[in-house]
Amino acid sequence: MKLIHISDFHLVQAGGTLLGLDPAARMDACLADVEAHHADADLVVVSGDLSETGGEDTYRILEERISRSKLPIRLMLGNHDIRENFATVFPGQMAENGFAQAAIDLPEGRVITLDTLDDGKVTGRLCDSRLAWLKEKLEEAKDRPVYLFMHHPADKVHLPALDVFGLLDPEPLFALLKAHGDVRHIFAGHLHRLVTGNWQGIPFTILRSTNHQTALDFVSPTTTNCFEPPMYSIILADRDSLIVHIHQFAD
Ligand SMILES: [Fe+2]
Repeated sequence: MKLIHISDFHLVQAGGTLLGLDPAARMDACLADVEAHHADADLVVVSGDLSETGGEDTYRILEERISRSKLPIRLMLGNHDIRENFATVFPGQMAENGFAQAAIDLPEGRVITLDTLDDGKVTGRLCDSRLAWLKEKLEEAKDRPVYLFMHHPADKVHLPALDVFGLLDPEPLFALLKAHGDVRHIFAGHLHRLVTGNWQGIPFTILRSTNHQTALDFVSPTTTNCFEPPMYSIILADRDSLIVHIHQFAD
């Protein structure tokens, strides 16, 4: 099974730039690279901050691009996104409970994409409704591996400027994941940095953005942007293994 993970497009108005970069051109280059080399992907997940502004116009730019793609793309929301505007353009990406999340069954297990957007806040949150949905989706897959995608990292990574903007109150989430017992990996975005490790024994990979990045700083309480190359990941999973390859698709 091959999954592609992309994060943080940060699209702006047509023709606009963000920190001197063109987010739409970066998105296009990223998707073109995936289309050229991974047309066989079972699923492509974009883990939120699709838009910088949350404007409906930015989701139209995204819709126009992915309508030209044959890739099976699942979209998620981040703190910069506005759920209502996203839902207007992408009604098919919304779950029945009104959140942009999904459970997708593939040959090697179930992919679950979570909506951690807490409207208007930088931090993420899983409310009771979303936790109940997740519990149900995990129980349905109780005999199968689960691969979890979420915009906000589930816990801290020892970067003070970024850790304060993570998921609030992660313990109910971890209780559900541990009760399932076979959550193979958590994939996240939000930090605009490449970080891997494990939380409570569950491995994770956090990706850079396709646009701008944040500087590695273990001391400062404030974020500094930087311009390390953009990336996406190629995830190869079978019954006994899960491998994450990182590809920098542009300099
Ligand atoms: Fe972001």
